[in-house]
Amino acid sequence: MKEYRTKICNVLIIGSGGAGLRAAIAAHESGCEVMVIGKRVRNDAHTTLAAGGINAALGTVDPDDDWIQHFVDTYQEGYHIGDPETVEILVKDAPNRVKELVDWGAPFARTENGDLDQRYFGAHTYRRTCYAGDYTGRAILSTLVSKVEELQIPIIDMTYVSRLLVNTQNGQKQCFGAMAFDINSGARTVFLSDSVVLAAGGHTRIWRRSSSRRDENTGDAMRLALNAGCRLSDMEMVQFHPTGMVHPESLAGTLVTEAVRGEGGRLTNSLGERYMENYDSVRMELSTRDRVALANYTEISEGRGTENNGVFLDISHVGKEIILEKLPRMYRQFMESQMLDISKHPMEVAPTAHYSMGGVMVDPETHSTGVNGLYAAGECTSGVHGANRLGGNSLAEILVFGKIAGDEAAEFSKNLDLQTRNRKVIRDAVEELDTLTTSGEQLARPLQRAVRDIMWNYCGVLRSEEGLARGLDELMKIKDASADVDVRPSAEGFSDLALALDLLGSIDSAEATIRSAIERRESRGAHQRSDFTETDSNEVVNYVVEIKDGEQSISRSLVKPLSDELVAPVNNYRVLEVDGRLLE
Ligand code: FUM
Repeated sequence: MKEYRTKICNVLIIGSGGAGLRAAIAAHESGCEVMVIGKRVRNDAHTTLAAGGINAALGTVDPDDDWIQHFVDTYQEGYHIGDPETVEILVKDAPNRVKELVDWGAPFARTENGDLDQRYFGAHTYRRTCYAGDYTGRAILSTLVSKVEELQIPIIDMTYVSRLLVNTQNGQKQCFGAMAFDINSGARTVFLSDSVVLAAGGHTRIWRRSSSRRDENTGDAMRLALNAGCRLSDMEMVQFHPTGMVHPESLAGTLVTEAVRGEGGRLTNSLGERYMENYDSVRMELSTRDRVALANYTEISEGRGTENNGVFLDISHVGKEIILEKLPRMYRQFMESQMLDISKHPMEVAPTAHYSMGGVMVDPETHSTGVNGLYAAGECTSGVHGANRLGGNSLAEILVFGKIAGDEAAEFSKNLDLQTRNRKVIRDAVEELDTLTTSGEQLARPLQRAVRDIMWNYCGVLRSEEGLARGLDELMKIKDASADVDVRPSAEGFSDLALALDLLGSIDSAEATIRSAIERRESRGAHQRSDFTETDSNEVVNYVVEIKDGEQSISRSLVKPLSDELVAPVNNYRVLEVDGRLLE
């Protein structure tokens, strides 16, 4: 057995993005010793790419806004398969989390009278999205990193978690830490802890076009959770953002923020038609993401797209000054990558895989996973978004549920009487790393690319039984090939090993996604089926994936009913005209 070091803490946080750091702060403030592990360097987690804003019904700009309306918009536009209790917790607590960030120094935009400014985002009834230009995620993440550093909570960078350590006794599973290695040196560490918070992101990098960067959101959180004995739900519900870049190829899929449309950006096809008129004539470009993504996809696939297989998004009419003030990152992004001045010319955009709306099933109030001592928060979880996420709800989600998961993990630690740190479980985790670190006939990168092609071709914006079945078949061949991946440490360090594990995470999360997509024989929000084009009222359910006898197994779970207080507001929901409303 190769050597490893041991590190011990009360609460171990896996993931150094917004959810993980907020959990770390909460657990520390509850009096626990906390450690945070991140697979990138701090301040560079995926949260930094979130652009347009964070939602909180503060009513600073539209005083009629309140938590009930935020609930209704979120639940209704999630096509009724979000968990009502989870959504309620989110919308009630989001204002507190935003105000707290302001106290910690987050540089949100202000109105002329000094209140927090709030912008429109698609399908919100009111302006409720707080923002810092078009780099809100970066502003939030660096505020959290500063706070974590001020509290002297250790963040262990460039460290990859290969397995959660779970002991099973009398049918009860209990998590007691994680096995990890340093991506540069390969040094292994067994982290022993009373409780663990999993906050390691989603799986949308496994589509060919994705708004995630290389080697992030590869489904590793879902693999860790499944292998630990957790259940995943809504894995078929993957949000395709309507507007990703289409070229250069190396940047294809990179996010073009919804704030461009919030500022008044217009979508047109190659015939010059403002086609949203045909898809949602009331909300136009500020319709829900699933509708705008499907519209863009349809225009392109029916031959009305641009030369580079996109559609046009034009913001030039608002003028350079506003663009530079409100969309500075977008201006720079197109100038640097295409030498395109977006204050003069339209951008070309197309749908891109953007957000995992499904993930680990958690208890709404505690974000416990069903495995004792294991909590989860952020994009790796399910429950809030249902079949379509409203822009700006993810940054709210990571803070609200990061805090809850951190509080609860700390509480668990304080009440823990006895924990078995099973040596065999640790040995198995070490052995897995030994087995993976061998020469083989296959390379991880090309297999990873093949997974991305499968997901894009067969499990993209529009799906069918035939395509999904073919996708699953091809995926299973890659799964077989992944057993023979070449992993050898080199001058580049142990990145081969991280890639091999990323591949396994991609395969497991892809399989769960395709299997769930096959089962959902209807169209609902982000899950559009060419062979079942209608929404089916019998499908107000969540599809749940878990491992049984070593295989993924799938079942249906009914969505909980609304509380009495929320029935009437949801039934009275009306879409408001965008026309005539001030955009931003
Ligand atoms: O378009 C955007 O700025 C994305 C925001 C979000 O996904 O919440």
